[in-house]
Amino acid sequence: MVVAIDGPVAAGKGTLARRLAARYGYAYLDTGSLYRAVGSKVLRQGGDPADEAVATQAAATLTESDLAAPDLRTEPVGLAASKVAAIPGVRAALLDYQRRYAVTPPGGQPGAVLDGRDIGTVVCPDAPVKLFVTARDEIRAQRRYKELLDRGETATFEQVLADLRRRDAQDQARATAPLKPAADAHLLDTSDLDIEAAVTAAVDIVNDILNRGSLSR
Ligand code: DC
Repeated sequence: MVVAIDGPVAAGKGTLARRLAARYGYAYLDTGSLYRAVGSKVLRQGGDPADEAVATQAAATLTESDLAAPDLRTEPVGLAASKVAAIPGVRAALLDYQRRYAVTPPGGQPGAVLDGRDIGTVVCPDAPVKLFVTARDEIRAQRRYKELLDRGETATFEQVLADLRRRDAQDQARATAPLKPAADAHLLDTSDLDIEAAVTAAVDIVNDILNRGSLSR
């Protein structure tokens, strides 16, 4: 079983993915952390995240310790991740790992939840469950702003909103695997939902698909 969750910055994908994985006993892969690790590695090397050769080399040599970089969740690394993610060689280098994770979760679980930008369209186009999670820009920026302040980072709401719009625009405009809903994705707008309500809505969609599967067997 594969649950593919896509959507723009700070739409609530990660929280939903983690909650669904815990509920169904599936493995969870935050694919954004792979692109963040590449972005962080390039910045650490003093390189330009938009440099194809440098970013592709960083992606091809990614290690567990790169995935544990302390700056992974910061805004500059998010922007760098969005830049390296537009480079086809970077995406190609990360594709196999994501597909293998989905088909054979590392802990032997009966399924996997992957979240990102192209899971339903490119990484797992045959996933039985696809969710495209969105929320209004200002609401997503407010959530991200609060997250940054809670972590002790300094930021202004206006800057967070501008960064979020810039990153979404970059992710939607790229030629390779742009951010967009798969044709068969279920749209879930979390603007007016708290976490519990969003989880309930997602669980309803997943259960519906699981039940349909068992009836037709
Ligand atoms: O989900 P996130 O904000 O941590 O992702 C960081 C960046 O990585 C995002 O702006 C675009 C890129 N990304 C991608 O292109 N494809 C994915 N499947 C996941 C993330």
